Amino acid sequence: MKIQRFYKFKLIPTNFVGYSYICIIIYNKNLIMSLQLGDTAPDFTAETTEGKINFYEFLGDHWGVIFSHPADYTPVCTTELGRTAALQKEFDKRGVKIIAVSVDPLDKHIGWKNDINTTQNVNVEFPIIADEERIVSNLYGMIHPKALATATVRSLFIIGPDKKIKLMLTYPASTGRNFTEVLRVIDSLQLTAKHSVSTPVDWTYEEDVIIPAALSLEEANKKFPKGIKVVNSYLRYTPQPELS
Ligand code: BEZ
Repeated sequence: MKIQRFYKFKLIPTNFVGYSYICIIIYNKNLIMSLQLGDTAPDFTAETTEGKINFYEFLGDHWGVIFSHPADYTPVCTTELGRTAALQKEFDKRGVKIIAVSVDPLDKHIGWKNDINTTQNVNVEFPIIADEERIVSNLYGMIHPKALATATVRSLFIIGPDKKIKLMLTYPASTGRNFTEVLRVIDSLQLTAKHSVSTPVDWTYEEDVIIPAALSLEEANKKFPKGIKVVNSYLRYTPQPELS
């Protein structure tokens, strides 16, 4: 989290001889800068439905997803957490730890978790942070007062094993996120972290990937033995390399 000092100088007119203005006032404000891709994900310790958790210890050297929702016992949130629980095996397969957060208290989370399990026919295994003091929400800039006065909006961060933020998304309270898309992005991030490729529009696992334009054709041929499809000098595809 970057905290930037902000100084403001004010020129005051005077009638001292030779000085028409004097620089007199300095305001000093601390502005909290929002997180950006590549920033280190803030660490914290918080109460959750699975007990007290230190975020970095919870992540270990895994990938992580931390996501906020506005409130317990609300319809869209119930479907979102249900879907995430239903995809738990998919997150496990990719070595991704999941943690949810909202500003509701722990007892409410526990009661609501039972509701999610019953109505969505799942078993929520991931922890839900009770962030009543808004410590995590503020660290991650999950409260957007112009959209929703006091609660968290639908923010989601993907964090790499190096604890750097790899993806951020923010949805309004009225729109449920697409967790299949979250898995798709994780597939892309894990692949591009391992191989120097990028993934094209709407790419899904096992489809062709893009070779960086910086590689010469000769280098690309050496690096990608599965073959190369050249569209033009900067758009070249190769079959997806293996992840493991
Ligand atoms: C919902 O999850 O349905 C919801 C929560 C807060 C505001 C609007 C919708």
